[in-house]
Amino acid sequence: MRLQAADPKTLAGEFLQAFGNQNALLTAGDRERCNTMTIGWCQLGRLWNLPVCTVYVRPERYTYQFMESHDYFSVCVLPDGEACKQTMSLCGAQSGRLVDKVRECGLTLRYGAGDAPLFEEAALALVCKKLFVQDMAPACVTAGEDKILPYYGKKGGWHRIYTGEVVEAYTAIKN
Ligand SMILES: Cc1cc2nc3c(=O)[nH]c(=O)nc-3n(C[C@H](O)[C@H](O)[C@H](O)COP(=O)(O)O)c2cc1C
Repeated sequence: MRLQAADPKTLAGEFLQAFGNQNALLTAGDRERCNTMTIGWCQLGRLWNLPVCTVYVRPERYTYQFMESHDYFSVCVLPDGEACKQTMSLCGAQSGRLVDKVRECGLTLRYGAGDAPLFEEAALALVCKKLFVQDMAPACVTAGEDKILPYYGKKGGWHRIYTGEVVEAYTAIKN
């Protein structure tokens, strides 16, 4: 399969379906250095009348450093299957500080707007430009405190929210 550029608006349905049901790879960096990790939290929508994608990254992730130092990031959904499961599992358990996850998973890098790294193996990919960044905080939990606060803070730092304008979309075509 190969990725081809597509209009994000015409793919909105497909993207919503994919992101609502599958984990994805969040990747940031440039042609020199980059890192990727599995994400489960991801939303697509509209903000300030722009198409946006929002992701959540804990500060202790290696990926966080790349999200901070770069203006663009990508979100890739891989085709469902065994390879996808293994990649999601490795990229969600190992840190790029210790493992070259791109090489380990046999992923092929390509670059989109702002030199954002993304993967040729993706079924769907979005390239986003950071638009809004904010930290999640206990004081902002307004409901379900008993469900969230007792466990959430214990697992690590509170996530930083990154909302990016969707500047490019890609979909896989068969050769
Ligand atoms: C299914 C799944 C979903 C995950 N979702 C997120 C997420 O949305 N945000 C986050 O910060 N970490 C998430 N993680 C954890 C990171 O993927 C994991 O800590 C990873 O090893 C971080 O890699 P890094 O240190 O190279 O950035 C998830 C892990 C899994 C297995």
